[in-house]
Amino acid sequence: MSEFNKQTKLLSTSENDLQTAAKIFKNGGLVCIPTETVYGLGANALNEEAVKNIFKAKGRAGDNPLIVHISKFDDIKPLVKNISKKAEILAQSFWPGPLTMIFEKSNIIPDAVTCGMDTVAIRMPSHPVARKIIEKSGLPIAAPSANISGGVSPVTAEHCFADLKGRVDGVVDGGECEVGLESTVILMVGDKPRLLRPGFVTAEQICEKIGEIIIDDAILNPIGKGQKVLSPGMKYKHYSPSAKVIIIDADDEKYYSYVNQAEGENIFALCYDEDVAHINKKCLTLGRHNDNKSAANRLFYNLHQFDLLGAKTVFARLPKTDGVGLAVVNRLLRSAGFEVIKL
Ligand code: TXA
Ligand code: MG
Repeated sequence: MSEFNKQTKLLSTSENDLQTAAKIFKNGGLVCIPTETVYGLGANALNEEAVKNIFKAKGRAGDNPLIVHISKFDDIKPLVKNISKKAEILAQSFWPGPLTMIFEKSNIIPDAVTCGMDTVAIRMPSHPVARKIIEKSGLPIAAPSANISGGVSPVTAEHCFADLKGRVDGVVDGGECEVGLESTVILMVGDKPRLLRPGFVTAEQICEKIGEIIIDDAILNPIGKGQKVLSPGMKYKHYSPSAKVIIIDADDEKYYSYVNQAEGENIFALCYDEDVAHINKKCLTLGRHNDNKSAANRLFYNLHQFDLLGAKTVFARLPKTDGVGLAVVNRLLRSAGFEVIKL
């Protein structure tokens, strides 16, 4: 018999339903909650059993640690050993919001959250629904993205349901996520802060506040066999829809002619608004060319749409890596298994 036969409640954002979600957390259960980035699969971060159930529900590798979510700054104090001046500046500048910082962990964080690492990732989301639920529970909430591991992160309650129905106690429907891809992750332990995962808070914005940071190699490059990674999540296959995604690194004309000549069933283009008139295949767009924020917002949504539309092959344009573009390219490369055709 499957162990995934929970009655998954669909919860609204009414006070009553948020109270129900908070109560499920207090009782050790699992609830998917909306955040400004993507939906999170949450549980009480201090309850080892509940945290282990997150890994089971997602089919997540046992060496990929979770982010702990708080609703106010003071709540970080019991969770970490030391908050550097630079971390304080970043918290003041970007919290609540889509930034995760990694600190040395305190002893109250169970090993299940950090997978035995001595650091813990902390984030204070800005989404009012996430904040209210965390506050009502009175607990730090561990939450990875609310998808089966390897798939595309969910940006609607429907996406959570499609993956996790029967595996979680509830899904709170807070509509579509505003940012549309996961938070920026930065390691604040060690000599120099190191960007491990790009997101909506950009490397440029961070440097403006605290000076130089290191951009981890794994952001734009595949991890070699046996290579040590600072953020375990970087080494896993990620963000993959059922369709095969292939990135085309080319100028407009070469991209159009490559896609137009391609033969086969259910070929789609993932391109910009301005490209659509030049392409003879079905297109989903990342918004207007050079609008990185729109690209961030539409990437995962479109990857989910490709599945619904039965896409077999998707030829994607390669966005620029400035600003939020770095996050878009980081996720797109992983969804394509780093397959890039340079023309
Ligand atoms: O926007 C987000 O960050 C979403 C929402 C729900 O908050 N959460 C999310 O969690 O994306 P997840 O588990 O899908 O990604 C967390 C990433 C993983 O790549 C993980 O390896 C890394 O953060 N991470 C967590 N704790 C870490 C630690 N102590 N050291 C290094 N990397 C860590
Ligand atoms: Mg994830």
